Amino acid sequence: MFVDVHAHLNDEKFEDIEKVVERAKNANVEKIITAGFDIESSLKNIEIAKKYEDVFVTVGVHPEMVDEVEENYLEKLKEMCKFEKVVAIGEIGLDYHFKDDNKELQKKVFIEQIELANLLNLPIVVHSRDAMGDTLEILKEHTPVCPSLLHCYSGSIESANEFIKLGFSFSFGGVVTFNNAKNVVKVVENLPIEKIMLETDCPYMAPVPYRGKINEPCFVPLVAKKIAEIKNIEIEKIEEKTTKNAKKMFKI
Ligand code: NI
Repeated sequence: MFVDVHAHLNDEKFEDIEKVVERAKNANVEKIITAGFDIESSLKNIEIAKKYEDVFVTVGVHPEMVDEVEENYLEKLKEMCKFEKVVAIGEIGLDYHFKDDNKELQKKVFIEQIELANLLNLPIVVHSRDAMGDTLEILKEHTPVCPSLLHCYSGSIESANEFIKLGFSFSFGGVVTFNNAKNVVKVVENLPIEKIMLETDCPYMAPVPYRGKINEPCFVPLVAKKIAEIKNIEIEKIEEKTTKNAKKMFKI
């Protein structure tokens, strides 16, 4: 069985979540971790996890949402973490792609949430886009106490090795199947399988041959197949190892 460690089941593109979960099961994707990106989506994901036994949650404020963050957001997140199926704080991090005039606020909110995770003894799920240097710098100073995850990793193998020293693993999704993903392919090739997990980031980033369509957890095996090709390992081994890695980190 597979685990999708990063999905957004709360997204309005998913009209019938029951069907999405069912299609995942039929594709042997047994467990799904659905990620919050602000207070509202985190709460919505908690409601989804209450309904489906094999759906787990991360709660957190995404760097693109920091301008709207409320003063008491940390208390709200902390309250949510009382729910036993909250398995990490995420997705949190830095994103300078569309907006970089609020870097200081992004860093502050990132650090505050790392500290919350450390207080609660939870892993973090990190989103980092066009901000790898600052992400690494912050994580060196504010290192998570629990082994944690960089999702949709797009950095170099050199940076990856630095993150590994800080206890990080990496999850990969549809991007590895894209023709222009040479850098990601190189990273996957060089990373030990013990540090790799599978994700979709659905409803976005659908793998080939569904690129541009609505992505779903049921497409995780396509990512596994591509990683098996890149690493020249049987897909069954990829399935077994990535699932073991996910279960260990998120205690699911
Ligand atoms: Ni995401």
